[in-house]
Amino acid sequence: MSTIETDVLVVGAGPAGLTMAALLARHGVNAITINKYPGTAHSPRAHITNQRTVEVFRDLGIEDAVRAAAVPNELMGNNVWATSFADEEIARLLTWGSGPERHGDYESASPSQMCNIPQHILEPVLLQGALDQGADIRFNTELVAIEQDGGVTATVRGREDGVEQTIRAKYVVGADGGRSVVADQLGFTFRGEAGLGAAANIWLEADLTAYTAHRPGTLYWMCQPGNDYWVGSGTWICVKPWTEWVLLFMYDPAQGEPDLSDEAVIARAHQTIGDPDVDITIKATSLWQINHLVANDYRRGRAFLVGDAAHRHPPANGLGTNTSIQDSFNLAWKLAHVLQGKAGDQLLDSYHEERQPVGVQVVDRAMQSVADMLPISNALGFAPGQTRDEGLAALAELKADSPLGAERRQQLADAVELQNYQFNAHGVELDQRYTSGAIADDGTEWPTPQRDPELYHHPTTHPGARLPHAWLARGDQLVSTLDLAGHDGFTLLTGVGGDAWAEAAEKLAAELDLPVSAYLVGPGHEHLDVLGDWRARREIADNGALLVRPDHHVAWRSERMADDPQQTLRSVLSTLLART
Ligand code: FDA
Repeated sequence: MSTIETDVLVVGAGPAGLTMAALLARHGVNAITINKYPGTAHSPRAHITNQRTVEVFRDLGIEDAVRAAAVPNELMGNNVWATSFADEEIARLLTWGSGPERHGDYESASPSQMCNIPQHILEPVLLQGALDQGADIRFNTELVAIEQDGGVTATVRGREDGVEQTIRAKYVVGADGGRSVVADQLGFTFRGEAGLGAAANIWLEADLTAYTAHRPGTLYWMCQPGNDYWVGSGTWICVKPWTEWVLLFMYDPAQGEPDLSDEAVIARAHQTIGDPDVDITIKATSLWQINHLVANDYRRGRAFLVGDAAHRHPPANGLGTNTSIQDSFNLAWKLAHVLQGKAGDQLLDSYHEERQPVGVQVVDRAMQSVADMLPISNALGFAPGQTRDEGLAALAELKADSPLGAERRQQLADAVELQNYQFNAHGVELDQRYTSGAIADDGTEWPTPQRDPELYHHPTTHPGARLPHAWLARGDQLVSTLDLAGHDGFTLLTGVGGDAWAEAAEKLAAELDLPVSAYLVGPGHEHLDVLGDWRARREIADNGALLVRPDHHVAWRSERMADDPQQTLRSVLSTLLART
């Protein structure tokens, strides 16, 4: 059996693995990424792509390509509940920051907009981005065995020729999804439960322009009584406006598997459209499970888990691919710095310290959001075991001019309001905050959130937070503070009177052989805070400083100029990079 040597073996080329491959390649790390299938995802799967993820794409230089392939933000907003597309609409929520009350929150929080990009369309863009960086990605190559022995030894098999090879690597990244071989064979353990429910995805073509173009959205919830498990008969997910969809429905496996024949799924589709004349073409069907699992450790020795390999949860809040991509954004620079001798191995422990709590938060949030859909069914008067007629009679009470009718209308309004925790959870989407050895805490309290921290983003420069976005004028352009950060290096941000910080950063970059860029923001400098947003968000004086990590998170800050900026920065960088 032949042996190949590399520094990092990435197992899996889904959203997490492709992001890892692209970032490692850009860092110049010697890495091989393998995928057991012949190509990228062949069906839509995940689709909601939040601002934080688009910021990662922006950093990678593929934001425009993603946006060009995606359903744009302005066609994402209407979340509709009805018994069918043709029936009277029951309720609507403006989602993902599209409503007038939330639009400004989303607009001011990030240079990037959310989009709806199904996974089979996103992955080729990510793959091309990774190949453009020079990534070595091998399809049709399956990991069959792996062990740790001071390094990592993997046995991989070519799926076309059956030939086995050994790959020797210094580190392995398990980006191999919900049935991770890396997690299984290297002894990772999980908390939570699997198989909490089951769902079917029907990918189909159906021209629903007449029913959707006037209320463009991503999700249309068709709730019919008396016939179905959980929330209703079918959620329609927009793949291509307004002719391509995924029809998703839950089922109870204890009652047997659903009939996925063309005839049965077309009947279900027609029933939830409410119009038998719409032509339907089935493209594919698949079944999946609801899990509520997170790895207890994201690192074991030389192995790391990213993406679904580490956390498995329902699609509510659309956090699947987003969290997976953000895991890789956290880990890639750390691996690169350690492999290139710029940081000690201990830096890699911070991946678990920072991302595992995020995984816990994400799986719990997604599960709670699924449970929180039940009040909608209750408000509609639907209950398990009901006949269709009983359910329709209960639904009719919503229209009654009676105390019960008024109560049910209030119940429905409250149930729809609760959905903001799934569909406008801006704090959940953007405010992942870290505490670890790779963050130099400054001893100050985190600011007290002024609004609900799950629903609202709270910009702060407290060490561990994502660098707040603010538009700055540079010549005739506007650039985001986030554009100054990232791109594989550290960034020092200071202002008027902060020249000594910038000089110190420049000297240390050479002394420590680290990529550190310094920017002065303010009058007389290249970047002007003409809108005043940076001043409002930076939480430091003009001559203070922020040190931002390659993943846009604030590593350290100084409220004002230090006596010896070079020694201060040297000490901070040495500590957080675990340099001895
Ligand atoms: P992902 O599973 O995407 O990729 C894993 C990769 O590893 C694959 O390329 C696979 O081929 C490869 N691999 C596995 N074992 C291997 C081995 N032994 N050797 C080599 N390669 C191996 N999420 C969401 O947020 N919203 C949604 O609507 C949905 N809908 C949905 C529908 C269906 C049918 C599925 C299956 C999943 C979803 N998801 C979802 C979940 C979402 O797809 C998921 O969170 C992300 O794809 C996770 O990305 P990863 O890269 O971590 O794993």
